[in-house]
Amino acid sequence: EKDNFAILLDRYKEKFSQFPKEKGWMGQDVYMYQGFWYTSENAFSIETMMAVQESFQAHSTDIYVITQPKCGTTWIKALVFAIVNRTKYKNIKPSDHPLNISNPHKCVPFLETEIITKGPANPPRLLASHIPYNALPKSIIDSSCRIVYLCRNPKDVLVSWFHFANKLKDKSRTPMTIGEMLDVYAKGFMPYGPYWDHVIEYYKASSEDPTKVLFLTYEDMKIDTASKVKRLAEFLGHPFTEEEVANGVVEEIVRLCSFENLKEVNKNGDLLTGIPNASFFREGKVGGWSNYLTKEMSQILDDITTEKFQGLDISF
Ligand code: A3P
Repeated sequence: EKDNFAILLDRYKEKFSQFPKEKGWMGQDVYMYQGFWYTSENAFSIETMMAVQESFQAHSTDIYVITQPKCGTTWIKALVFAIVNRTKYKNIKPSDHPLNISNPHKCVPFLETEIITKGPANPPRLLASHIPYNALPKSIIDSSCRIVYLCRNPKDVLVSWFHFANKLKDKSRTPMTIGEMLDVYAKGFMPYGPYWDHVIEYYKASSEDPTKVLFLTYEDMKIDTASKVKRLAEFLGHPFTEEEVANGVVEEIVRLCSFENLKEVNKNGDLLTGIPNASFFREGKVGGWSNYLTKEMSQILDDITTEKFQGLDISF
């Protein structure tokens, strides 16, 4: 027997079957809705997005971590969780900190999966999403909740997608070469694609109201993580005290959330969705794309980036 959520999703299925459709990521059908492409039949699908859009109710104290997949979602989730909860976990043994025991995806769940369980109870609710700005539930846009947005050099995002997809080895999906992946990525036929349009929406929202949307890049975070952690804490209304800074609390958070530490913590086990914890930690570097993309491939993406980001102060 179908539960209420399955019935709700069926209602959206009838709607989206009329939308423009293309063969996209991993041979799956992607559907166009409000300027973006979505897959179906999983948590990060068009029907879930439509259900979230229509039914999710934001609270003014909520904090949303928003990215496109493979832009560093796991990292920024960990950092936001560690910053906001630092007082709560101040006196526990470091080995008992949730980020030293479980996956950041458990600490900061996705809206796309939490609509089923109604989300965490106590404020501030920390939630994540991949939904484009203009498709967010109206209550997120209208309430005074805060949004942290992280993006990344699209060439590294593409290479990260490529490895992630191959690691999952879902038999319903056709494995793709990097060239085939580039082709669908450039056309935007990816979950939440086109990549560039997603970034532009959040960039503009942040320019219009920097107190509502904090726009960050993976590359800037890598250059000076500590200063970005301080910036994040201020933005989230949890600034570090002088005493905390003097006591090295910022550096402790940087280390706790570092690629090396989280990779070690997450080397075993799976998420509830069956995705191995380890699959979110591959290389964690800037510029690794040059080992996978030919000059021609790189040029294709550079040309799109130059054209789409013309006049905007976005660089990687
Ligand atoms: P690579 O595949 O380039 O290594 P997402 O979390 O959005 O799925 O993105 C995954 C990417 O972020 C992967 O990139 C992964 O290695 C990297 N990553 C995960 N945890 C990280 C961390 N703590 N610091 C830096 N990068 C991290």
